[in-house]
Amino acid sequence: MKPLLRALKGKTLDPPPVWMMRQAGRYLPEYRKLRSQAGSFLDLCMTPELAEEVTLQPIRRYGLDGAILFSDILVVPQALGQKLWFEEGIGPRLEPLDETADLSRLSSAAFHEGLQPIYETLKRLRKSVPENVTRLGFAGAPWTVASYMIEGGSSRDFFKSRLWAYRDPDGFGKLIDLLVEVTSEYLIQQVAAGAEAVQLFDSWAGIWPDEGFRRWSLSPSRRIIEKVRKDCPDVPVIFFPRGAGVLYQECARESGAQALSLDSSVPLEWARDNLQPHVTLQGNLDPACLMAGGAALDEATRRLMSVLGKGPFVFNLGHGIDKTTPPENVDRMMQVIRGKSAQQDGRTFQ
Ligand code: CP3
Repeated sequence: MKPLLRALKGKTLDPPPVWMMRQAGRYLPEYRKLRSQAGSFLDLCMTPELAEEVTLQPIRRYGLDGAILFSDILVVPQALGQKLWFEEGIGPRLEPLDETADLSRLSSAAFHEGLQPIYETLKRLRKSVPENVTRLGFAGAPWTVASYMIEGGSSRDFFKSRLWAYRDPDGFGKLIDLLVEVTSEYLIQQVAAGAEAVQLFDSWAGIWPDEGFRRWSLSPSRRIIEKVRKDCPDVPVIFFPRGAGVLYQECARESGAQALSLDSSVPLEWARDNLQPHVTLQGNLDPACLMAGGAALDEATRRLMSVLGKGPFVFNLGHGIDKTTPPENVDRMMQVIRGKSAQQDGRTFQ
């Protein structure tokens, strides 16, 4: 079995498998080149040959253990009929929904049709991803996706979304329920097209007090994980409730996920003692440390391996790699992780 899949299924590997959130992106010159040829970021996501090529770029360069589908979490609202565009220097923009919005304006009728290019990318990756590299699918968790749908893009405080949830939990719950339904189907279709494991990104889970977290982050995510596991029992699910703090413990016990992705603020010894007995852990190198490089990077990489590497562990970052990261710092990180045992393991890549 492929190393990343083995680790996600609870095996301890030395060295641990490694991939990086946002591993394909603007820090790579080959990505910037293709992106400028494609026109827009969304064109890149929705053109299978190009999305395939971008997915493979970091695999060729670094020999990572996981190839994550190149796409975005916001293609889901787009496939429900909400207008989406990306503004240079700003990020994603959507025509915002509000509390009075008629949810029937959103339609799942053409949902899978709109996402066909993404399934096509996964089908192509079946043939082009190297043999021992795991193909990862992904989606955004309902709360994080709903927040972009309501705010109309990125937000500092998510007040509009939180106010809606507090004032009209039934109405807000309908939006969350819709997202639970379509996201489960979306992930199941990704598996049918070739994804071997999937990650559910709840990037803004940490904004909630505990009750809100359970109701709007953990519970909808658990419902999705349950559906995916029922249809695809062999496919591990990685859950990333970023910022969950001590509530990571409830996620380990109750989300149904096989692995939890830790943000950089989670203390390693605490995670080892309280989470790793239940699930595989993934994470959590600070992306700023990767950007800094040098001795700080070597030291943090070694510490992560020595504390979490004695149990089921996947080396990753605590959040996505930043676009200003020098690509050679990733080489340095890989050297520290793989050390000499990479050869013994037969896991060397050209
Ligand atoms: O990990 C990978 O390499 C796979 C591809 C991937 C992207 N976005 C590509 C992308 C994945 C898994 C995502 C997830 C995603 N998208 C999340 C959850 C993870 C997280 O980072 O918290 C969120 C919140 C989004 C929404 C989104 N997409 C934002 C906020 C932005 C702008 C941020 C920025 O850096 O400009 C995007 C754009 C985006 N998604 C880019 C990439 C490579 C940059 C697009 C470009 O201009 O080329």
